[in-house]
Amino acid sequence: MWEAMPTKRNIATLKGDGVTFIGPMAGEMAEKGEAGVGRMAEALQIAEAVEHLLDDAPKPLKGKTAIVTSGPTHEPIDPVRYIANRSSGQQGHAIAAALAKLGAEVTLVSGPVTIPDPAGVTTIHVERAEEMRDAVLGNLPSDIAVFVAAVADWRVVSSSEQKIKKQPGDAPPALQLTENPDILKTVGHHEKRPRLVIGFAAETQNVEDNGRAKLQRKGADMIVANDVSPETGIMGGARNQVKIISSKGVDAWPDMSKTEVAERLAALIAERLT
Ligand code: C5P
Repeated sequence: MWEAMPTKRNIATLKGDGVTFIGPMAGEMAEKGEAGVGRMAEALQIAEAVEHLLDDAPKPLKGKTAIVTSGPTHEPIDPVRYIANRSSGQQGHAIAAALAKLGAEVTLVSGPVTIPDPAGVTTIHVERAEEMRDAVLGNLPSDIAVFVAAVADWRVVSSSEQKIKKQPGDAPPALQLTENPDILKTVGHHEKRPRLVIGFAAETQNVEDNGRAKLQRKGADMIVANDVSPETGIMGGARNQVKIISSKGVDAWPDMSKTEVAERLAALIAERLT
């Protein structure tokens, strides 16, 4: 239906009249076995989009563009297996939404996650680190870049096109790994470097020292560092406790929800850019 010319014409007319569309989304339809574009947006996405439309709060980032990376990357071993980091995408998605709320035009480059795309943001879905890098570089220039994704450090040199079969008595396959591109470092030293480049540092020890080293090495203006030791419950959880490391020093924020971290960071970004 959405591909039919009369439908397309009618949609264009309505959009021209200022009508906003939420969806259609791609995916499985109500009719069993049917899939494609035409699925109704999730209730949460509809609620977020309505909130976005009715929002008349100040927009200090209006006219500014932002790129945010979020989620893990999946590096294929073969068609059914991959190497990945633990990341739910909650913090990155919340930051993309918070920047959009302040008026920025946001492109979110997301690895595979199970949470919905934030409303009011253009989301590009990728799997591998190289795809994430290409999507980020393809969206430069940008005023702001925030790298929240947990990018896999390594990928398999040549992933197998067919599933690697386990044969009784065979030794496990030796995977030859190679380093993935460091997207934050590339952008931090790029000729089209955004005015504000922000990275994350998920650490399990020496959080501040590692964060400061990353600030230098990656050419970032700010590092948001946190302790992700399993006992903190931060990874996959709804709360976060971060330290903001910049040339100005270290600012330790109290424990708060990931949405609050995102809103506070977006406000700090707006303050730095205006
Ligand atoms: O070096 P490390 O992975 O700890 O650095 C974390 C920061 O660098 C995060 O902001 C992450 O998004 C970014 N990063 C990246 N590309 C990589 C590795 C990390 O953009 N290949």
